[in-house]
Amino acid sequence: MNMILVFLSVLSFLISLPRAYFPGDHFYIDHFYNNTVNFTRNSTYQSNLNLLLSTLRSNTIHGSSDKFSEGFYNSTAGQDPDKVYCLFLCRGDVSAEKCKDCVNFATSNITQCCPLQKDTVIWYEECLLRYSNVSFFSTMDTEPDVAWWNRDDSTGGLFDQQVPNLMNEAVNQALSTTKMFAMKRTYIDVQMLYGLVQCTPDLSTDDCRRCLRLAISRLDGFCNKSVGGRVMYPSCNIRYEYYPFYNNTFNPTPPLAPARRTPPVLLSPPSPGSVTSSKDTSTE
Ligand SMILES: *[C@@H]1O[C@H](CO)[C@@H](O)[C@H](O)[C@H]1NC(C)=O
Ligand SMILES: *[C@@H]1O[C@H](CO)[C@@H](O)[C@H](O)[C@H]1NC(C)=O
Ligand SMILES: *[C@@H]1O[C@H](CO)[C@@H](O)[C@H](O)[C@H]1NC(C)=O
Ligand SMILES: *[C@@H]1O[C@H](CO)[C@@H](O)[C@H](O)[C@H]1NC(C)=O
Ligand SMILES: *[C@@H]1O[C@H](CO)[C@@H](O)[C@H](O)[C@H]1NC(C)=O
Ligand SMILES: *[C@@H]1O[C@H](CO)[C@@H](O)[C@H](O)[C@H]1NC(C)=O
Ligand SMILES: *[C@@H]1O[C@H](CO)[C@@H](O)[C@H](O)[C@H]1NC(C)=O
Ligand SMILES: *[C@@H]1O[C@H](CO)[C@@H](O)[C@H](O)[C@H]1NC(C)=O
Repeated sequence: MNMILVFLSVLSFLISLPRAYFPGDHFYIDHFYNNTVNFTRNSTYQSNLNLLLSTLRSNTIHGSSDKFSEGFYNSTAGQDPDKVYCLFLCRGDVSAEKCKDCVNFATSNITQCCPLQKDTVIWYEECLLRYSNVSFFSTMDTEPDVAWWNRDDSTGGLFDQQVPNLMNEAVNQALSTTKMFAMKRTYIDVQMLYGLVQCTPDLSTDDCRRCLRLAISRLDGFCNKSVGGRVMYPSCNIRYEYYPFYNNTFNPTPPLAPARRTPPVLLSPPSPGSVTSSKDTSTE
């Protein structure tokens, strides 16, 4: 599905990012919609969508499992031609409670930003919400996309060949998990580099690998000197930073510090820096 979606935010702007992992932060990132597929107010599509979004928000157990603990849920409502396909994905390290909060935020905000759009995706720091009248389950989609680079080098971090290396290791780890998610960290010199990769778990391992590799390939092209960066697609996302931006207690085993080197003592979080946003898909 090669959608051209409307990019609503300005193409390049300065924005402060949370500089460390804040558990309560449902940080809004971006959203897109396909401007050519609208529904009308009070239509069957709208009532199907509203039903679906309220199902998403609810605590109802789906089958034998809790959707917020799993951090992923896909569902449909209605029949063609008013059938709605919808999914959410929470970042793999967030608790069920935080996942639910984020999905709640996303479902209410999406109906404000995109009140009559059939085909929409919204990204938050901790979750993704997407719906469409066209089935996208088990389909790898790398459009629309969002790429943000952290150019605040006051952390002393460097973009290094070890960034893609770390991310590729994370991909291999993610592909061996049912969540299709991995967090990895490593020392680069005395700096700890943190990486995270995740696919929607409805993808095949081949599609997940292709999606993540595509995202990683963009690191070379765009974030040459960036000390942090992320690429977000509807089907997968990656991020790296020189500070712990994910729930560190989730995988507590730190890598061994390099011999002869002292790990950094981080007394205070790095100061807020600037990030540029770039966008590839057509803005038409
Ligand atoms: C929007 O969605 C429709 C229906 O899925 C699709 O055919 C079309 O290519 C999309 N529009 C644009 C401008 O991409
Ligand atoms: C869909 O709705 C948006 C406003 O929400 C409007 O700008 C756009 O022209 C509409 N598209 C169509 C095909 O009616
Ligand atoms: C989705 O909605 C658009 C616009 O209403 C319509 O042209 C298209 O046929 C629909 N696609 C499906 C699969 O129902
Ligand atoms: C939609 O339904 C609500 C309440 O059911 C009604 O107040 C409103 O006028 C309707 N809007 C349209 C455009 O039909
Ligand atoms: C979720 O997606 C999977 C993969 O396409 C599909 O088998 C399953 O039926 C979907 N679940 C729902 C509730 O539609
Ligand atoms: C972080 O992960 C730990 C271990 O899985 C979990 O107990 C805790 O609730 C998580 N914290 C948040 C804010 O998600
Ligand atoms: C809701 O979405 C808008 C974009 O439409 C964004 O500017 C705003 O920050 C979001 N608010 C929350 C609380 O997520
Ligand atoms: C990345 O850096 C190299 C060497 O400094 C330079 O040749 C290349 O043009 C840069 N690429 C981008 C996309 O900035």
